[in-house]
Amino acid sequence: DSGYLLLAIETSCDETSVAVVRNGREVLSNIISSQIDTHRQFGGVVPEIASRKHVESMTLIIEEALREAQVELPDIDGIAVTQGPGLIGALLVGVVAAKSLAMALDVPLIGTHHIAGHIYANHLVGDILYPAIALVVSGGHTEIVLLESEGKFRMIGRTRDDAVGEAYDKVARALRFPYPGGPYVDRLAQEATEEVVLPRSWLEPDSYDFSFSGLKSAVLAEINRSRMKGETPEFSALARGFQQSVIDVVTGKAIKAAKEFGARQMLLCGGVAANKGLRTKLTELCAEVGLPLLIPPNKLCTDNAAMIAAAADMKWRRKQFSSLDLKAEAVMSL
Ligand code: KG4
Ligand code: ZN
Repeated sequence: DSGYLLLAIETSCDETSVAVVRNGREVLSNIISSQIDTHRQFGGVVPEIASRKHVESMTLIIEEALREAQVELPDIDGIAVTQGPGLIGALLVGVVAAKSLAMALDVPLIGTHHIAGHIYANHLVGDILYPAIALVVSGGHTEIVLLESEGKFRMIGRTRDDAVGEAYDKVARALRFPYPGGPYVDRLAQEATEEVVLPRSWLEPDSYDFSFSGLKSAVLAEINRSRMKGETPEFSALARGFQQSVIDVVTGKAIKAAKEFGARQMLLCGGVAANKGLRTKLTELCAEVGLPLLIPPNKLCTDNAAMIAAAADMKWRRKQFSSLDLKAEAVMSL
């Protein structure tokens, strides 16, 4: 027996992704079709366009994922899909495709939470030790999640305004980078020789919540102040100041949470986990306190379907299947 095959579909935002994963951990294919070139001209993701693009590419991406995995539809044992949270029109395309496949193949359907997917991307790279603290940083989310045991999530902190990636993208726009600008700000911050020190938003001493809108405004205010004085703002020093403030706060809170909840492991995930400065700092801090750290490779950090298969696998092993009237949820708790 060569194990079981899950085909997973992810369409919560602007990536159409389909993966084939064996036994919940072995990625046979993970096709990601990004629509970013289409959305870039609008400076952000346009929901209506995202839905249409998902419809256009869905069958092609499914075929490509099967081809790359060298399997055929009848070989598939179960269908996993992102149920939410995300753009409702975009999610619907994936959910309808998943239901159709599950019905046609007469195999189980498993609805999955998008953030559970980001967290369990780590299960594709190593064994998760419980309890674990997951630092989820993406364009839509910034959360600290306590994993008490497998599949048992407790959200202990979240952003009260912008997500980290969102703040990066807004700052990037002010620094005249194209959307999504997070990677550009990261690179500029790495190259900077000077730093404009910006405030750290720690909030209440016992809170694991975040707030980044003030920091973003501080960057914009610095740019305006320079211009008023007839000076050219030093973009690299600002990028560095912004990045250092973000990294200090997110890593500081994650480490504090790990201590308070007796975590045996730290998990980093979400698109912003690609950030060099963040990876380096969290690696250092975890080493200092002797906490094992998992970080997936970049391709498994940004939105992809393999992570959805990894999260669905927990439900698969427990036979927690969804019914065919599964509904996409724009807002969904973990
Ligand atoms: O997880 P993801 O692909 O999509 C969401 O679910 O949101 O994350 C995308 C976000 C974007 O905001 C992008 O600018 C940011 O991740 N990002 C980065 C870096 N690479 C991607 N932010 C900072 N530094 C990076 N190197
Ligand atoms: Zn995501």
